[in-house]
Amino acid sequence: MRRSFMKTTTSFVCQECGYESPEWLGKCPECGTWNSLREFKSQVSNAKSQNYTSNLKTFGTQDLMPKNLSEIKFEKKSRLLTGFSEMDGVLGGGLVNGSVTLLAGDPGIGKSTLLLQMALTVASRLPHYSDDARKSGSKLKERIRSLNESRLSKESILEARSGSTFSSSENGQALSVLYISGEESEEQIKLRAERLSPGLKNQNLLLLSATNVDAIQQVVQNLKPSLIIVDSIQTMESEALTGLSGSVGQVRYAALSFIRTAKSLNIPVIIVGHVTKEGMVAGPMILSHMVDTVLFLEGEKATGTRILRSLKNRFGPVDEVGIFVMEGNGMAEVKTPEQFFLSKEQKSVPGSVLVSTIEGTRAFLVELQSLVVFSKFPLPRRVAIGIDNRRLELLLAVLQKHCRLPFETMDVFVNVAGGLKIQDPGTDLGICLSLFSSFKNIGLGKLVCIGEVGLLGELRNVPFLDKRIKEAKKLGFRNIVSAKTAKTLNEVIKSIQ
Ligand code: TYD
Ligand code: MG
Repeated sequence: MRRSFMKTTTSFVCQECGYESPEWLGKCPECGTWNSLREFKSQVSNAKSQNYTSNLKTFGTQDLMPKNLSEIKFEKKSRLLTGFSEMDGVLGGGLVNGSVTLLAGDPGIGKSTLLLQMALTVASRLPHYSDDARKSGSKLKERIRSLNESRLSKESILEARSGSTFSSSENGQALSVLYISGEESEEQIKLRAERLSPGLKNQNLLLLSATNVDAIQQVVQNLKPSLIIVDSIQTMESEALTGLSGSVGQVRYAALSFIRTAKSLNIPVIIVGHVTKEGMVAGPMILSHMVDTVLFLEGEKATGTRILRSLKNRFGPVDEVGIFVMEGNGMAEVKTPEQFFLSKEQKSVPGSVLVSTIEGTRAFLVELQSLVVFSKFPLPRRVAIGIDNRRLELLLAVLQKHCRLPFETMDVFVNVAGGLKIQDPGTDLGICLSLFSSFKNIGLGKLVCIGEVGLLGELRNVPFLDKRIKEAKKLGFRNIVSAKTAKTLNEVIKSIQ
């Protein structure tokens, strides 16, 4: 009998970027962080390396054959709708089977809430998604009944492991959503679910409060659910590794095992990842390289607005955004985001200006507000909320130099209404005009501004100009200034005075 040996290897892994070194180093050569390398032991089975050599032999003979592009068969991947059209849009049309999606965001921003709502919706609709269930109409009712009878508890999962009392589709997949939480107990999740959809009946939603990745994989393999949600990857750990949960080694191991499950069972998996102060997905940036899609949920905690952004997507567009508001009973979609960032009545108030901005491929009208007052300080204050402070400094310098406005003696405050964070340079003209409007104390009426301002005071064209103009016109604004109507910032300001 051949014995397989477990070989332990030791390496040092940077907790910030995942750089691996065979020896300890004070400073990570990859990301430059000091004292971030931690010891990481991993066990490699001897059998694996033997497999590897035998794999090489077979690859060498028949498997490794390039194919002609025309020979490759392409199957349209089926997608699971999340129940939020905003989220489906960001994903590029729903969750692709067998894909792994990372949902990242600050703690408390609403990741668990959003995913639990999604899980509830998907679970309640599940039989409709199963093609074979649709085909066999008579079996459908029976399936739904048996699903409703099965309880949403650990026992039911254990039952499923032993004898499978679950109804399952013909390819062996159970018609259920598995929500794995390493952060909250099943009771806490149940309480939240009650809050999100009061008086809910039993659905095909299974909760599992656990952190042991290897045990979870077993449950998943036996259960074969239709969707898996892991909240959060930083709480998952394996006994095979030495590091604490949240360390690079543990996170990478857990992510890899979920990726393997997703691919082998062809199930979509959503992984939650917390973000560190620097805005990176905590510890391992490597997570974003491993998964298929990276979504980011952001927003100011004080305001209810939440923006879901796709940073990477192997199955759809990137930089797409979805807009939500956090309410008393969970996240609600904003159905008309074009109007969401406008105040109810557009009055002509000094300091307020509308800009037409682009997020991903969508155009929005957003209200910018400025307040300009005399400063008591030798170094006047510049406060920007929702736009970059350096951009504000730069635009103030342009106004001072090219339009001869004395902002060097003024305190300046700029805010983007509705809690949106704007990076689009196409809002430069709007920022300048709102500062000017507050400084001169004149209202600009129903004016929409589109344009980037250069260091020489010139107005530059911006991408998607026609789309932005169309959006403004759609909402009834006819007075639009852009690089089409003027060449310089000074020209625009003179025409207003
Ligand atoms: P949560 O989803 O737990 O955040 P994350 O998983 O990203 O850490 O969101 C927690 C916050 O959301 C908490 O401050 C309370 C608030 N909240 C609501 O405003 N409405 C709700 O219906 C729920 C469930 C939470
Ligand atoms: Mg959470």
